[in-house]
Amino acid sequence: MSPIPTVPGALPLLGHTARLAAGPLAFLEAQRRQGDITRIRLGRRPAYLLNHPGLVRALLTAPTRQFDRGDIFREGRGLLGEGLAVADGEHHLTRRRTVQPLFQKSRLPDHFPAMAEHATARARSWRAGQRFALNAEMTDLALTVISHTLFGAPLSDHDLRTIRRHLPGFFQGVAYRGYGPRALLDGVPTPERARYRAAVTTLRAMFEKLVAAHRDSPALAAIGEGADEAQLVDDVASLVTGAHTTASTAAWVFHLLDRHPDVRARVREEADTVVGDRDVRPDDIPRLTYTGHVLTETLRYYPPVWLFPRRATVPVTLGGHEFPAGTQLFYSPYVIHRDPRFHPRPTVFDPGRWTGARAGASPHRTAYLPFGAGVHGCPGGDYALAELVLLVAAVGRRWHLRPDARAVPRPRTILAPSPVTVTVEPRAAARTV
Ligand code: HEM
Repeated sequence: MSPIPTVPGALPLLGHTARLAAGPLAFLEAQRRQGDITRIRLGRRPAYLLNHPGLVRALLTAPTRQFDRGDIFREGRGLLGEGLAVADGEHHLTRRRTVQPLFQKSRLPDHFPAMAEHATARARSWRAGQRFALNAEMTDLALTVISHTLFGAPLSDHDLRTIRRHLPGFFQGVAYRGYGPRALLDGVPTPERARYRAAVTTLRAMFEKLVAAHRDSPALAAIGEGADEAQLVDDVASLVTGAHTTASTAAWVFHLLDRHPDVRARVREEADTVVGDRDVRPDDIPRLTYTGHVLTETLRYYPPVWLFPRRATVPVTLGGHEFPAGTQLFYSPYVIHRDPRFHPRPTVFDPGRWTGARAGASPHRTAYLPFGAGVHGCPGGDYALAELVLLVAAVGRRWHLRPDARAVPRPRTILAPSPVTVTVEPRAAARTV
């Protein structure tokens, strides 16, 4: 068996951290060309990147006693405590068994009416010519939907502002510390450290207040089973911050629809046929099939979770190679989704690759992991897709959102588009093919 190639260009103390920070997506794609497993250094620590879907699935579905989540998740614990998004081992399994049923297929229809209502209300609230910050608007909407599910009520404007203001600082602080020189970042008083600490304290206080106020909502009563107040706050914070990925996908899909008038025209046509002049309804979801493919392709093209680790807790073998306990192994849905071996012409945004015969004939389904896999696979995936399909149809019936500038991918803890203002154009006036 040939040895694992080490990616060239490591600096003495920083390893590949500087290159990863400077241009992470280009770096990840370049290293993939060197092999299905490659070795990098994060600071002084070695880490491995798994560039084949078979290896990634083996990593994610390995017995839980072989891997925990890895450094970046530990950094999230200041805010998320022992919540579902960061917990490990037996404790994680116990919490997952309690929280997951809220989002399982049979319970999803309970959440659809609020999703349809909020998507419609948002699209109705816009006026022709209005301009707004797309990321912020989509974040507010995703937070409104998840808070309706959890608390039975939307968040106050004050809470929305608090999350918008502090969550980026939290995510950035987690990414810097998880992938970078943690001791240095925490040891020196800098504006970044102040921002990170303020984010943790303020957000935690807000989630505590929300849980205290809504302790009796049906959702909190269900996921609160077997949990004390602190654990419930941890899980609620996990779910609300998890919904941020939905906001990123929503922003991306409107950028991609703007860039692809042919796709946009088909989305509108489908909205006209399925929804017509009325508002979107939950029973439209299964009939909005092309819109569903557009979202599947959006998540292939720009998967919000673009790079996540696992850490071996015992010596493990993967792909015929042995790794000692403590090894960090990374998977990147972005890298897998753009591998031409599995997704022909990967840089082309093409929802048609998910339709009919083309979808069935291709090997690409196994190389598609926007929601991860295994015991930590996203419990909110189907929930998010339903919310997004309703949103795209509700907006597509009335409007085109025209960005002022071309967004670029911003890979932080999640892969979001750079902030861009959009103008609301009535459908008829929007640019066509
Ligand atoms: C398009 C939207 C979404 C995407 C792309 C996404 C993606 C992911 C991925 C890839 C993971 C696995 C992380 C890992 O391997 O460590 C994950 C886990 C998780 N997601 Fe999502 N997610 C989305 C929406 C949501 C929503 C709406 C919620 C809340 C309802 C949510 C809550 C969570 C939680 C709590 C976990 C941790 C699960 C566990 O470890 O047991 N996600 N998500």
